Amino acid sequence: MWAVSETLDLESFRAEARQSIAAATSTEGLRELATALMGKRSPLALFSRQLGTLGEAERKVLGQTLHAVRTELESELDERRTVLAEAELAAELESGKLDLTEFRPGMLPSPQGRGHLHVVTQTRDELEDVFVAMGFTVAEGPEVETDWYNFGALNIPPAHPARGMWDTFYLEVGESESTLLRTHTSPVQIHQMEVAVATGTLPLHAVMPGRCYRRDTPDARHLAVFHQIEGLVVDRGITFADLAGTIEAFTAAYFGPDIHSRLRPAYFPFTEPSAEFEITCTICHGQGCRTCSQTGWIELGGCGMVDPAVFAAVGIDPDEWTGFAFGFGIDRCAQMRHQISDMRALIENDVRFLRQF
Ligand code: DAH
Repeated sequence: MWAVSETLDLESFRAEARQSIAAATSTEGLRELATALMGKRSPLALFSRQLGTLGEAERKVLGQTLHAVRTELESELDERRTVLAEAELAAELESGKLDLTEFRPGMLPSPQGRGHLHVVTQTRDELEDVFVAMGFTVAEGPEVETDWYNFGALNIPPAHPARGMWDTFYLEVGESESTLLRTHTSPVQIHQMEVAVATGTLPLHAVMPGRCYRRDTPDARHLAVFHQIEGLVVDRGITFADLAGTIEAFTAAYFGPDIHSRLRPAYFPFTEPSAEFEITCTICHGQGCRTCSQTGWIELGGCGMVDPAVFAAVGIDPDEWTGFAFGFGIDRCAQMRHQISDMRALIENDVRFLRQF
């Protein structure tokens, strides 16, 4: 950059150097310039090397001048470097800036809406509302249960043939007790009665919704993971008529005034007498169709008067208290209410299906 020659004089070097520092346009260029001006092969280094050839007095003068020039150029370089670095940072920030409101054609905003509760969750909420309006409280219980809560306390001892009614996922098979995924919400009845006995808060009017599990192959009307809602009333002087009236009131409130209920004798170990309850087929409104096998009725769940053996398991005196219980599928309710032909659609997560509800 500078012709290094004997004739180069220090004053013009200094002037030119200051000009080129002021003219530098990038920190990178400035770094190269600094090397050219003051590095090992720079004019300044050459001047320094000449010192040795001078006499004592001259050497002192030139030495001091060189030092002054070097110090001056260094501080000019520093200053310029600061200015350039700031400008470069500002430019970088400006070019990297994200405009979050930017909108370009082809970059359409997401067409997806806000989403909403799953139809089964909506159904559960609506069922709870109906029962709360009838004076029931809402309770929940664990999905992992012991053999005792899911079966034993419900009057289904080990090896009882009724166990075949529920294909069970066992988690751990212990010698004295097994743990399992509850096959129905009925064990929550036991928890509720235990608490009521322990706290002296009988009578009890509760519904207990929740997830249940069965080792079933899913088909149009069954899922291996499904939902039930259990109902339990324990009070003085409760009769089968109270049960039938409650089922009918619930059916009309949830499905509409033209849908009715009927009870048919059945067997459940935890109720005596027991019944299955059916509602008017919501597809044909009782006329008879394929879905209801031409009967005009669709089975929804089971119910009955609480068996004294169940009261005995939780320490309730069956001479003082009577009660009824019922349990039915929430998914089945959603299916009937919305005429969903195949229940498996509920768990396939196809938004085109789910969006309808
Ligand atoms: N737990 C029964 C089941 O899942 C349904 C049921 C029947 C519940 C009768 C009840 C009842 O509370 O009283 O098959």
